[in-house]
Amino acid sequence: MDRSIAIDTSKLSKVYDGLTAIQDLSFQVFGGEIFGLLGPNGAGKSTTLRILITLLRPTSGHATVLGHDVVREADRVRRLVGYVPQERAIDRFLTGREHLLLLGDLYHLSKEETNRRIDEILKLVDLEGKADQPAKTYSGGMKRKLDIACGLLPNPKILFLDEPTLGLDVQSRLRIWDYVRHLRERGITVVMTTNYLDEADQLCDRLAIIDGGRIKVLGTPSELKAGLGGDIVSLTVSAAAMPRVDALASALKGLPFIRAMSTKPTGLDIRVESPEKALPAVLEAANRLDCRLEFIECHRPRLDDVFMAHTGHAIREEFPRAEEA
Ligand SMILES: Nc1ncnc2c1ncn2[C@@H]1O[C@H](COP(=O)(O)OP(=O)(O)OP(=O)(O)O)[C@@H](O)[C@H]1O
Ligand SMILES: [Mg+2]
Repeated sequence: MDRSIAIDTSKLSKVYDGLTAIQDLSFQVFGGEIFGLLGPNGAGKSTTLRILITLLRPTSGHATVLGHDVVREADRVRRLVGYVPQERAIDRFLTGREHLLLLGDLYHLSKEETNRRIDEILKLVDLEGKADQPAKTYSGGMKRKLDIACGLLPNPKILFLDEPTLGLDVQSRLRIWDYVRHLRERGITVVMTTNYLDEADQLCDRLAIIDGGRIKVLGTPSELKAGLGGDIVSLTVSAAAMPRVDALASALKGLPFIRAMSTKPTGLDIRVESPEKALPAVLEAANRLDCRLEFIECHRPRLDDVFMAHTGHAIREEFPRAEEA
């Protein structure tokens, strides 16, 4: 990976009719990397992407894409980027190839150039076999591949993917991850959004966790996990003992080997220096407070722990156990 700067943002903010969607976002994307914006619904991911591809003007702050300002040099930026929106714009009755031909016209590519690129891209996203059938016969994964093919047609230096695998089954998701990695091998810089922790963890070279319109932390997945320090002891408490979880947390608070705690609908997650030291104290306190433990699990920090530590909440609501619901 080269370390040239492909995208540079400084204090980027967007206010929609009084609602602050993103605030003071400053980050850099390196050339040739897969960079992710990870956040829950409404975090400001699509807004950020739309500013970078010049579809939206920032309310304040600056951003450059390959050295060009997204407001003052919007035309230059547009010629360098491809965009796959979150909501697809596929016509049911057109074939995959027809979609791409139309786009070629839109980008003023010559017929020859368009046909050459279409063949290349269809191969890349593995849609050759389906290219001449109407899109209504495509599965969800195939439609997403066609979306990505459309984003690739202008031969972009940077491809922006908004939630590339939202709602797809596991197999289609894995296949799309493979295509995205393949694009990186070809030197294309990829900026993507996701609210899937596993996608951010496994696909992105670096990622920014964004919540409530602000970047909470940024780094490689391993840096972010190592940055937490310690391990996680995760307690599942019996439904009857749930009301005593706060008391358990208070009893453990202040013990030297405990770094942080967060309650969850089924119990308590405790970040500890070493589980060997912490476990006896945790068990003793749970016993003393009559807080029956159904399950204890220890693990190295995962991206969900990183998200929780930096935002104070889980990326998606965890459902309470069935008998409580
Ligand atoms: N055109 C708009 N007009 C007014 N408010 C908007 C508009 N677009 C987005 N918002 C608001 O800005 C905030 C950020 O929205 P955005 O679409 O950027 O979030 P997101 O992270 O992409 O969410 P999701 O995961 O649901 O796609 C939200 O509160 C949203 O309601
Ligand atoms: Mg979005």
